[in-house]
Amino acid sequence: MGTRVLILGGTTEARRLAERLAPRPDLDVTLSLAGRTNNPVPHPVPVRIGGFGGPGGLADHLKFERIDRLIDATHPYAAQMSANAAEAARLAGVPLLALRRPVWCPVAGDRWTEVADTCAATRALGEAPRRVFLALGRNEIAAFAAAPQHHYLVRSVDPVEPPLAVPSATYIQARGPFREADDRALLAAHAIDVVVSKNSGGDAAYGKIAAARTLGIAVILLRRPALPEVPAVETVDAAAAWLAHAGVSAARGV
Ligand SMILES: NC(=O)c1ccc[n+]([C@@H]2O[C@H](COP(=O)([O-])OP(=O)(O)OC[C@H]3O[C@@H](n4cnc5c(N)ncnc54)[C@H](OP(=O)(O)O)[C@@H]3O)[C@@H](O)[C@H]2O)c1
Repeated sequence: MGTRVLILGGTTEARRLAERLAPRPDLDVTLSLAGRTNNPVPHPVPVRIGGFGGPGGLADHLKFERIDRLIDATHPYAAQMSANAAEAARLAGVPLLALRRPVWCPVAGDRWTEVADTCAATRALGEAPRRVFLALGRNEIAAFAAAPQHHYLVRSVDPVEPPLAVPSATYIQARGPFREADDRALLAAHAIDVVVSKNSGGDAAYGKIAAARTLGIAVILLRRPALPEVPAVETVDAAAAWLAHAGVSAARGV
């Protein structure tokens, strides 16, 4: 039997890592999704869906499923799950690696304002009506109802239900990755003058940031949440390398 690996997913990197590991005969890989989207993209390894019931529930799952290695490849803003993974790995005595994308850093021409959360982002929009692109998840936009003077363009994977309680909003359903040229066309077509975004890192969501820079549009960036201090890598290659000799070390019980 191969080394049993559980990937906590929901990101492009988690899917790419699963693609990388799936052909390896020495590994037995499962990927876990929270179940946030109605039609998750297909993965090349078995997928389980739904929460574990906190860190204790995840620790029980690790023991029951005899998981040898845990990889937290959740989104950098999934801070609760990352904290749970750290605690569960400790409780179950399972080695944990976090796969975390580096943050985007501003370059010449970027007009960024960094804020702590969506309430601060709402305040940072100011009093005067603006045309705002909310590049946030459908569960992250409720705070903007407090600033109904703005027009909002909302792009999400699944429909926003109920819609945002503001008089003027446009909804687009789309799943990334998004190319810079397409995002530039989108911002121009909707006469957007400010983008609100997480600092997700990676390529798949960077198009709107690059497009805003080209068009001279302001960006309000939500700062990353604090994440647990655990061994971490930034690339799928490095995460795969962590498992290079997993079969050997698992057999030795290290
Ligand atoms: N936050 C974002 O901006 C963002 C963006 C893109 C994708 N995602 C993905 O969407 C998922 C949920 O994000 P979130 O911000 O809601 O996370 P979160 O606030 O950190 O997690 C909330 C709860 O959802 C469950 N959960 C989260 N990720 C899970 C996973 N991979 N497998 C099983 N259960 C999971 C856990 O429930 P229990 O405590 O019951 O185990 C967790 O306590 C994550 O997998 C993340 O990678 C998030």
